[in-house]
Amino acid sequence: MTAPLIEARNLAYGYPDGVVALAGLDITIPQGRRLAILGPNGSGKTTLLLHLAGLLRPDSGTLSLAGRPVGYGRADMKHWRQRVQMVLQEPDDQLFAASVAEDVSFGPINLGLDQPAVSARVDDALAALDLAAVANRPPHLLSYGQRKRVVIAGAVAMQPDLLLLDEPSAGLDGDGVSQLLAALARLQETGTTIAIATHDVDLAHGWADDVGVIVAGRVMRQGPARQLLADADVLAAARLRTPSVVRMLRALTLTGWELRGEDGIPGTIEGLAAGLERRACDRRPDSP
Ligand SMILES: Nc1ncnc2c1ncn2[C@@H]1O[C@H](COP(=O)(O)OP(=O)(O)OP(=O)(O)O)[C@@H](O)[C@H]1O
Ligand SMILES: [Mg+2]
Repeated sequence: MTAPLIEARNLAYGYPDGVVALAGLDITIPQGRRLAILGPNGSGKTTLLLHLAGLLRPDSGTLSLAGRPVGYGRADMKHWRQRVQMVLQEPDDQLFAASVAEDVSFGPINLGLDQPAVSARVDDALAALDLAAVANRPPHLLSYGQRKRVVIAGAVAMQPDLLLLDEPSAGLDGDGVSQLLAALARLQETGTTIAIATHDVDLAHGWADDVGVIVAGRVMRQGPARQLLADADVLAAARLRTPSVVRMLRALTLTGWELRGEDGIPGTIEGLAAGLERRACDRRPDSP
């Protein structure tokens, strides 16, 4: 069995002002699975991602990358940055260059790649995030959703094994979220594992294979998304609302409707509606 991409055991971390943000947290991110980290405000999601990306160092506990305990020296950090990239919630906290292409090239240049290799990575990352048309524009003149995608392109240009995104849907409209999810799906096809921290139970239910539910600095449960997000005890403990599609399925079941095994549990309300429409079409008598 291959080792998980990253594994945290018994992580503890307190901020300098004494707030304990992680209190003995365990999490495993296997290769190729989509993981959503869910939990109420202040439960430690962002702090956890900062640890997984090597941007904060735990007070105690262990982190392993591909089965090997991590170190915090220069060479270790360089290796870590290549393997794990984090996208912060606010794009303006990460954008600084005069143009989109320059911003995206920063990481690859720091890796010591030559100019053709840097250009190739920048072009690929901009194409993956649908940003080629704005490559020469200053990031601060772009829309919020575009700025968010520029930061993701910067992370993608590092060709990480693991991409961590903090609240990726925050501030995006419906189209913006769809574009982002399509870009993440393309990235996954190229072999990048993606984990997100979010409050958005509908996004997590529709997108994730697995969820890790954090309460008060500990992962209380990690497991299949569709199972955990239909578990009333888990949702109540993490003060999460029931995903809309789960509520809708329950309501339909109360009316006597049955989910067909072959349909599987729909991830989203749109998926459920499409399934209902298909069934209505199947039942419609042939027109004369
Ligand atoms: N820079 C900081 N200094 C001191 N305390 C902090 C700092 N950042 C976070 N905290 C505290 O650490 C705890 C965990 O915060 P964190 O930001 O990781 O939670 P979160 O789950 O990401 O919350 P949210 O859903 O609001 O984004 C909270 O009690 C928070 O107040
Ligand atoms: Mg947060």
